[in-house]
Amino acid sequence: MNTTETIHEEQSFSMPRIGDKAPEFKAVTTQGDINYPSDYKGKWSILFSHPADFTPVCTSEFITFAHLEEKFEKANCSLIGLSIDGLYSHIAWLRTIKDKIEFNGMKNIEVKFPLIEDISMEVAKKYGMIQPGESKTQAVRAVFFVDPNETVRAIIYYPLSLGRNFDELYRALIAMQTADKFNVATPADWNPGDDVIVSPAGSCGVAEERMTSSEDLDCKDWFFCTKKLNKDLVLDTILKK
Ligand code: BEZ
Repeated sequence: MNTTETIHEEQSFSMPRIGDKAPEFKAVTTQGDINYPSDYKGKWSILFSHPADFTPVCTSEFITFAHLEEKFEKANCSLIGLSIDGLYSHIAWLRTIKDKIEFNGMKNIEVKFPLIEDISMEVAKKYGMIQPGESKTQAVRAVFFVDPNETVRAIIYYPLSLGRNFDELYRALIAMQTADKFNVATPADWNPGDDVIVSPAGSCGVAEERMTSSEDLDCKDWFFCTKKLNKDLVLDTILKK
């Protein structure tokens, strides 16, 4: 491959990184046209891709996402799906899901969030959703968390064969919102009500202070301090009434 081809290949399969501004695009969706991310300014959004309409793993994911949509909206987060299929395929698939498919006790599920048609792969390529080693013609299961300032905050990728864990997607969203609102970090497997991590000491003085402080900190060492954060306070702060 010559240099020009390499550059072209890199450009056509670019991928935003955590901390980047979410790349802009206009798209046709099952809920009308959208301008992303500007239509979602002031809200969190999860932009996710799936390989194809009328496939079983994707169908189970769409039923689950649609079932949870209200829960995500309560956390000020909109859902937006995408695949490299056309609008009429999307519409037919979503109708079939509603009319015929039951999954994990969920049935008669209407997908009300937008599903982007991306036959040109323009958006999928912009967001690195095409991973040629996995498939050159289908998007992998990518998940982009974008915050109210239009910044990419987390990215999770799954291969074609693996359905996503929706508890984890919701947990990640709430954990990032908690980190922002309370200026803390969240340890492994954190869920609301669990202790949170106090940001590491930035100086020797602060490290010393931490160890002797009367503040409600539990310091195992100068760099590892946790504190309680009440579950109701977290949920009341984050979730819409
Ligand atoms: C599925 O959604 O079932 C699927 C899609 C592409 C490859 C493998 C599975």
